[in-house]
Amino acid sequence: MPSSGKPVSIGAERAKRGEIKDSPQDEIADGGFPATRMRRNRRTGWSRRLVAENTLSSDDLIWPLFIVDGQNTRIAVDSMPGVDRLSVDLAVEAAKEALELNIPAMAVFPNTDPKLRDDAGSQAFNPDNLVCQAVRAIKSQVPEIGIICDVALDPYTSHGHDGLLIGDEIDNDRTLNALVRQSLVQIEAGADIIAPSDMMDGRVGVIRAALENAGHTNSQIMSYAAKYASAFYGPFRDATGSKAALKGDKRTYQMDPSNAEEALREVELDITEGADMVMVKPGLPYLDIVSRVKQTFAMPTFVYQVSGEYAMLMAAAENGWLDGEKVMMESLIAFKRAGADGILTYFAPQAARHLAKAR
Ligand code: PBG
Repeated sequence: MPSSGKPVSIGAERAKRGEIKDSPQDEIADGGFPATRMRRNRRTGWSRRLVAENTLSSDDLIWPLFIVDGQNTRIAVDSMPGVDRLSVDLAVEAAKEALELNIPAMAVFPNTDPKLRDDAGSQAFNPDNLVCQAVRAIKSQVPEIGIICDVALDPYTSHGHDGLLIGDEIDNDRTLNALVRQSLVQIEAGADIIAPSDMMDGRVGVIRAALENAGHTNSQIMSYAAKYASAFYGPFRDATGSKAALKGDKRTYQMDPSNAEEALREVELDITEGADMVMVKPGLPYLDIVSRVKQTFAMPTFVYQVSGEYAMLMAAAENGWLDGEKVMMESLIAFKRAGADGILTYFAPQAARHLAKAR
């Protein structure tokens, strides 16, 4: 800027020399244009790469997997095109694929036989349940992959709730004991990370204490800290078979989508109770929460691009309405931009393959 304090009008100079015709000179000078042309940095591929503020790598991906009983069994989830429930042997193959694709971790969820579901969710404490079988098999054959186990009773309860239903209420404190038992069973099977997704108050604290007491001092906790009562979980409940079971909704324990300040309180509590990592869920409709959580707490912050988000993009892509690969990558970079350190996504293998190809 010249000492007169007036902005340099390169545009006016060029107009005077006849290089630009019909130039709105005053506007040019005031906007800093053409000294500043934002498009210069965007002109070429190499330049766009140089100035990119965020990048996605396979290191950012967590692959959620549905486990079903059987051998060499693969059952499609109709509402999630491209996602299958896998028997334990095929889950091991998936883990090998994850390793090849450089995906650091997987999250395993069971599709439990309805006959094994009861009011108390007692399959959750069976050291031989589907999740524990899958964890043991994967850990023995592909030990390099991190295994995350959900803690919540919904895949095991006949009423489909994450906690114990006493009368017509989900009983917080009685549920805590069950969650502790479920955590210990999963850690003893070899799980690396316990991920409480139940939204009971105090769960992270009691699970942390139980793990310490049992000598599992290195077990990590990734809490579903800000988990909303969302209709975007629909296809997941198809996949685990808990949709048919679910009586009512989960609004007395999962968060109201209207709230943001409350998410910060939830996250703060989980951190003080001993969470190593925190998660926001769902993903794209809650990017504001991801961003605020990361900025407020500077914790390892994860986001779950949930089943309904996957289903929406896949449905549009299958109809030819959206370019599937492009919206997948755009949605994933949005999470990085918002501040997420990692993303649980059903796109994990596809995205990792895309990233490997792009190199
Ligand atoms: C279990 C659980 C759910 C999801 C992850 N863990 C469903 C729910 O809370 O009803 C949803 C994941 C998804 O939709 O992809 N509590």
